[in-house]
Amino acid sequence: MAKLSPSILSADFANLKEEIEKIEEGGADYIHLDVMDGTYVPNITFGPPVIKKLRRTTKLPFDVHLMIDKPERYIKNFVEAGADLITVHEESTIHLHRTIQEIKNYGIKAGVALNPSTPLDNIEYVLEDLDLVLIMTVNPGFGGQSFIGSMEGKIKKLRQIIDERNLNIIIEVDGGVKLDNAKEILDYGADLLVVGSEIFESEDIAEKTKAFKLL
Ligand code: DX5
Ligand code: ZN
Repeated sequence: MAKLSPSILSADFANLKEEIEKIEEGGADYIHLDVMDGTYVPNITFGPPVIKKLRRTTKLPFDVHLMIDKPERYIKNFVEAGADLITVHEESTIHLHRTIQEIKNYGIKAGVALNPSTPLDNIEYVLEDLDLVLIMTVNPGFGGQSFIGSMEGKIKKLRQIIDERNLNIIIEVDGGVKLDNAKEILDYGADLLVVGSEIFESEDIAEKTKAFKLL
């Protein structure tokens, strides 16, 4: 069964509590929180204070995707706000190994995200420290973009590496995931799908969430 992490990036921010209840009702496994700083990506969203308030509205684990420069400056704040998993971009932090260790020292899960142009090789020497690798299948910054087809090979290659080495790492895929391509993406080897616009721009958020869970 598909594991699902709906991204609230495309949600109605004036009704977040209600919309989160709907994805919970639909069977979401996590809630994906896209944090953007206007520097690392050309968009701005929200930070620890909003996440802290949302923490009280749901029992779903918080999958926090940091699209910010030098994320090491704020790990503690996101942990205190209620993150269960923090993913940083490989390209955003100079001492990636240190940043990963910092996240893990707080007793939560650590992930690394790779932009479409970033090779898998860049995480070769931290792979064994990771709980999750997030493959970006759009350029980060906005919801509603199209899945970049050439990421198929990247997901398959990562699946192969993880299986060959018998590693316990979740492959998360983020960007352009729709009902009509989700099955294929799972077949490439993804474990966890991030879905933003397809769920939150639909007429019935709970039903749409359920539809992904039935794949
Ligand atoms: C993009 C974000 C995604 C985004 C996905 O930078 O990381 O999580 O919300 O949105 P869709 O599913 O609309 O591509
Ligand atoms: Zn994301």
